[in-house]
Amino acid sequence: MDLNNKTIIITGASSGIGAAAALLFARNGANLVLGARREAELSRITGQITQSNGRAVCLAGDVRDEDYAAALVQCAKDTFGGLHGAFNNAGTLGNMGPVPEMDEASWKDVLEVNLDSGFYAAKHQIPAMRDSGGGSIVFTSSFVGHTIGLPGMGAYAAAKAGLIGLTQVLAVEHGQSSIRVNALLPGGTMTPMAGDDAAFHEVVKGFHALKRMAEPSEIAEAAMFLLSDRASFVTGSAMVADGGNSVTKA
Ligand SMILES: NC(=O)c1ccc[n+]([C@@H]2O[C@H](COP(=O)([O-])OP(=O)(O)OC[C@H]3O[C@@H](n4cnc5c(N)ncnc54)[C@H](OP(=O)(O)O)[C@@H]3O)[C@@H](O)[C@H]2O)c1
Repeated sequence: MDLNNKTIIITGASSGIGAAAALLFARNGANLVLGARREAELSRITGQITQSNGRAVCLAGDVRDEDYAAALVQCAKDTFGGLHGAFNNAGTLGNMGPVPEMDEASWKDVLEVNLDSGFYAAKHQIPAMRDSGGGSIVFTSSFVGHTIGLPGMGAYAAAKAGLIGLTQVLAVEHGQSSIRVNALLPGGTMTPMAGDDAAFHEVVKGFHALKRMAEPSEIAEAAMFLLSDRASFVTGSAMVADGGNSVTKA
């Protein structure tokens, strides 16, 4: 069990990649604190884990709120006695559109959910991990903004690229405290974020060497590697789990 007795926060745990990660990490022995806004969905996934003898609690909230980041860490300490890992995974595409037509509120909202949340998370997670003698932080970034520019995704690309910069700085700031920090860059993944338009899915599949999109569980496996001691010398990386998206030109 790769995550045995490690206490890990997962945000965006109410659906898609975060929900798949919750189920996988629980099966691998983690103590989980699950976050997202939709309380009913979080409770359902938490119940699924506890009914299978896993260990999980949930706390609903909005990752744009710094107090929520602090509360998730406090919940980990109160429930399980400390914090060893965090999968900061909540994200949104927001209102998409060409930059000249994008209003400031839409830009700011996407930056707040995808990037400001990473700052709040790290600010509160790192001191707790230091108290635990070390830890691992994983931010869900994206192929968008790193290897591909997609029209209409200016704010999303900027935010996800920003997470890679934040990752690098945190890794060098806190490596000496045995805290590893990595960005995970999924390729196109079959989650609610990818919508249900089959024609669009066919286009996205073509971006990938494997000519398919990922299942959420495949991205969760990559996150588990980064959170586990198997990745003990991996820090500061922008790790792709992208089906060859980054090397595909045709
Ligand atoms: N699917 C892809 O193709 C793909 C590719 C690359 C990267 N990603 C990234 O992967 C991550 C997970 O996305 P997904 O594909 O699994 O999509 P998803 O199923 O739509 O999940 C998004 C998660 O983020 C949570 N969330 C959104 N806004 C939030 C907020 N303000 N506060 C708290 N939680 C919030 C949602 O929960 P609530 O609605 O309950 O709050 C949900 O649990 C995201 O960061 C996304 O950008 C996805």
